[in-house]
Amino acid sequence: MSDAIDLAALPHDFRWGTATSAYQIEGAVAEDGRSPSIWDTFSHTPGKTDNDDHGDTACDHYHRWREDVALMSRLGLDAYRLSIAWPRVMPEGDGLVNPKGLDFYDELIDGLLAAGITPSVTLYHWDLPQALQDRGGWPERETAEHFAAYASVVAERLGDRVSHWTTLNEPSCSAWIGHLEGKMAPGLTDLTAAVRASYHLLLGHGLAAQAIRAATSGAEVGIVNNLSTVFPASDSPEDEAAARRHDGHVNRWWLDPVHGRGFPADMREVYGVDLPERPGDLDIIAAPLDWLGLNYYFPATVADDPAGPVPHARSVRRPDVPRTGMDWEIEASGIETLLLRLTHEYGARKLYVTENGSAFPDTVGPDGTVDDPERQDYLVGHLAACASAARKGAPLAGYFAWSLLDNFEWAYGYAKRFGLVHVDYATQARTIKGSGHRYADIVRAHGELGRGAA
Ligand code: FCB
Repeated sequence: MSDAIDLAALPHDFRWGTATSAYQIEGAVAEDGRSPSIWDTFSHTPGKTDNDDHGDTACDHYHRWREDVALMSRLGLDAYRLSIAWPRVMPEGDGLVNPKGLDFYDELIDGLLAAGITPSVTLYHWDLPQALQDRGGWPERETAEHFAAYASVVAERLGDRVSHWTTLNEPSCSAWIGHLEGKMAPGLTDLTAAVRASYHLLLGHGLAAQAIRAATSGAEVGIVNNLSTVFPASDSPEDEAAARRHDGHVNRWWLDPVHGRGFPADMREVYGVDLPERPGDLDIIAAPLDWLGLNYYFPATVADDPAGPVPHARSVRRPDVPRTGMDWEIEASGIETLLLRLTHEYGARKLYVTENGSAFPDTVGPDGTVDDPERQDYLVGHLAACASAARKGAPLAGYFAWSLLDNFEWAYGYAKRFGLVHVDYATQARTIKGSGHRYADIVRAHGELGRGAA
């Protein structure tokens, strides 16, 4: 079935990895000087997550990272996308640095390198120090400035061994889901706060990009966005306009400013909120990127919804479309469309799929294996679509499967399993799923192709 993937379309030095994030796997939330993040606060607020799950222990990766690196080696992977917990490094969000927090990542990076695995480091995967939230969080400009100072500290410490840097993971989720829909930390439902947060997140991205480049030489800096293909529910002008607004909300608002096009005028009108602009900000936000990261999970079909929340576009459920355990539609062609859009519309010079994957309710069978045919189909289908995009000219340099391990899936808690490796949370036992073995086979087949051609 891996034959379905045109592996020859992918470059010989293609990076094969998995992705995780700090709060979703580390646990050890009160150890070695880590302070609470907004996700500790949110997940410990009753009713905010399924089953009131939280990340206190998660996959206990903080203590078991050696075992997890060994798993990556077993799978034959040569890259790993991880995130740094800001509250470990700077418990107050600014000022004092916690050396023990940095030591953890220092050792982890050394462990990865010793295993021949290239680290790709994300500085912000949603775990803002609560101390900064208490001072206003992302709606306030100072948070962007503190983010750059934190980025500089991390880059100075790790920059001799890490060259691949992501400033922000999915800022649209931080802004829209966290400040407008209230379904993620910090749990606000305030349009003005959300728009201000979106602005300061992107400003923070630009400032952090500068800080990383100043602290280390040879850094490759990128940003990771979760994008969707967007379709109107009908060909009525109203639904088409709704699709354009939804595209503006989830895609263009995040892509245009970093590509020097400013914030989309149509969306500024839709939001009707003054941006906290200062002269020079747009140039900072548009600092040239070395690469662009795409997280892709599902497409969107939307209808006009004038009375509904901004952007007045309601998601429509298409019947008879296969879905994952998240109830997300499975549409592999979307990843190809988006990779080609980033190539042609935004002139991307280098692209990574920084996340892609699926949740299904896996169980360990009586023989000790985890059979997950649906996840395998999802993986192969999306990799085939990636290879097709590469064949058509998308400069795709790597793919990171979400996720290495089953983990704390934010508001969904532990019920949703995205891992290529199953985690038994009671014992912390790890079991490579069928999809993990399948991924390893694909990676090996691609490597053999390179050796054959050499
Ligand atoms: C993305 C997040 C990641 C994970 C996946 C399923 O939006 O970046 O942390 O939760 O979704």
